[in-house]
Amino acid sequence: MINRQMVLKSHPHGIPLPSDFEMVEADVPNPGPGEMLVRNLYFSLEAAIRGWLDGKANYFEPIPLGGAIRGPSVARVVKSNVEGFEPGEIIFGLHHWEDYSLSDANTVLLSKLQPKDGIPLSYYSGGLGGSGHTAYVGLHEIGKIQAGDTVVVSAAAGATGSMACQIAKLRGCRVVGIVGSADKARLITEELGADAAVNYKHCDDLAAAISAACPEGVDVYFDNVGGRTLDAVLTCMNTFGRVIGCGMISDYNNQDNPTPIYNMWKLVEKELTLRGFLLYSYMDQVPAAMDQLHTWLEQGELKILENITEGLPNAGWAYSEMMKGATIGKNLVKVDSE
Ligand SMILES: NC(=O)c1ccc[n+]([C@@H]2O[C@H](COP(=O)([O-])OP(=O)(O)OC[C@H]3O[C@@H](n4cnc5c(N)ncnc54)[C@H](OP(=O)(O)O)[C@@H]3O)[C@@H](O)[C@H]2O)c1
Repeated sequence: MINRQMVLKSHPHGIPLPSDFEMVEADVPNPGPGEMLVRNLYFSLEAAIRGWLDGKANYFEPIPLGGAIRGPSVARVVKSNVEGFEPGEIIFGLHHWEDYSLSDANTVLLSKLQPKDGIPLSYYSGGLGGSGHTAYVGLHEIGKIQAGDTVVVSAAAGATGSMACQIAKLRGCRVVGIVGSADKARLITEELGADAAVNYKHCDDLAAAISAACPEGVDVYFDNVGGRTLDAVLTCMNTFGRVIGCGMISDYNNQDNPTPIYNMWKLVEKELTLRGFLLYSYMDQVPAAMDQLHTWLEQGELKILENITEGLPNAGWAYSEMMKGATIGKNLVKVDSE
């Protein structure tokens, strides 16, 4: 059997191009003791992968040239030498962009899924997977949201942001989303329940636009983008406000030259908390997040937005589109038609 793999062909300069990726064929690996062979079904395209393409370590090792792209997937167990995992079961974990991967008890983000009838499997790679869990843990554990808070979310029409907007709304907050197009502004206000939207690409004074959308100031900022948006929101924060450091995508395509932040004094002046987090350090909170997200979904209170690209060979193109900001909701690659 052949194992198709998508590997890194060249380090991207700026936004990754489809030509930075290449398909190769390898043998399907054999699971050794303590390992299992899994068939990848859906890959979740993650902004964080961009940092691993530059040849420099961050919180994971960089992906070497010629190495398979690392990314979380929903997968089916084919053969298992791992206690508690049986062939046919569905799992989630950090694997590689390939047909078949080896997984073991130490696989990052490894969890066994119990997909519910009537819920598409793809949801477990996005809204009911890492994106939903990140939004849920970030808002509750890091942001300590309370009903009545004004919560600002950046990249608000994206995978994490669209979930953060809805969760904050369901918790009784006033929600303002920051997005990069008029269509995304319409989507978050008309379909996701956000109270207002700010299009950062269409305003001369971003801080003034955020301030106008948040007349009572900002209590919690769910930051997906960093850069000039973070700088602007800092000037709008209320005393004892919380900034959730989820990601800084505006600098991911430009990591040698990060955007300066000028308003850090606001941390002192407004007694703010700015705390970063990575979901994998909070896996103990995922079961509770999953239960609540399932409940909201079944009650019709949550919308899961997806953008599914068919076929592993198109993964590089799909990633390029995502990192351009051209997409809405969770970006997934369906490995094949299985
Ligand atoms: N801490 C964690 O454990 C964790 C886990 C998952 C994700 N994250 C972080 O969450 C953030 C969102 O990731 P995601 O996977 O949900 O991606 P996403 O939001 O679905 O997709 C990326 C979106 O980011 C926005 N964007 C791209 N370039 C931008 C720029 N220069 N300035 C401002 N916005 C830009 C675009 O939306 P617009 O058109 O609105 O600009 C784009 O659609 C990332 O920073 C990621 O690293 C963190």
